[in-house]
Amino acid sequence: MTRRFLFVLGSSRSDGNTELLARAAAEQLPDHVEQVWIDLARHPLPDFEDLRHDSDHVRPKGDNTALLLDATLAATDIVIASPLYWYSVSAHTKRYLDHWSGWLRTPGLDFKQTLAGRTLWGVTALAHPEEEAAEPLTGTLNLSAAYMGMRFGGVLLGNGSKPGDVLHDSAALARAKTFFARKAPFARFPFDTQDAAA
Ligand SMILES: Cc1cc2nc3c(=O)[nH]c(=O)nc-3n(C[C@H](O)[C@H](O)[C@H](O)COP(=O)(O)O)c2cc1C
Repeated sequence: MTRRFLFVLGSSRSDGNTELLARAAAEQLPDHVEQVWIDLARHPLPDFEDLRHDSDHVRPKGDNTALLLDATLAATDIVIASPLYWYSVSAHTKRYLDHWSGWLRTPGLDFKQTLAGRTLWGVTALAHPEEEAAEPLTGTLNLSAAYMGMRFGGVLLGNGSKPGDVLHDSAALARAKTFFARKAPFARFPFDTQDAAA
């Protein structure tokens, strides 16, 4: 299957550090790998409405939600490129992930079955020099991948505050060169003991 990378940009400003770092990593992808980039600030999603226990979700048509849904279903690899906001993903990103809950329950989509086995990746920029500050974001993506039966490629971290700062983080730029070449094992819940004895 041809690999198709969907880059979901979650910053609330354009040309920020997260996007710069994601583009540095994407430059290394071979030409035959398709890339789709969607900036959530330019394609805002409506607030997610939880209808799980009232009625069925209906497949969106012709709007930003439909654009994101179709791109998500078509992607073999989903890259969440979110700046670190309050130690986790940005609100734009979180809203996108919340919509997954609706898509999981939209008749006819087979959302979970489609995404199972595909790969989730993260890219983030943060102002803290300490990488541990991004652990909640990494945990969010890792556990979400586990819930979906997806592989998880980990999170590419870069340091910076104002736009362009990350281009001075030479360690991050070096990591970007091989980031998408790394192995992405199936994500596991830490409390999942299945196969623990194997
Ligand atoms: C709302 C908000 C919350 C932030 N929270 C954190 C944080 O918790 N930890 C951190 O290290 N940096 C934090 N920052 C700084 C950004 O992560 C940093 O400026 C990053 O480079 C922004 O990425 P961008 O240029 O892609 O937008 C925050 C910035 C904003 C605007």
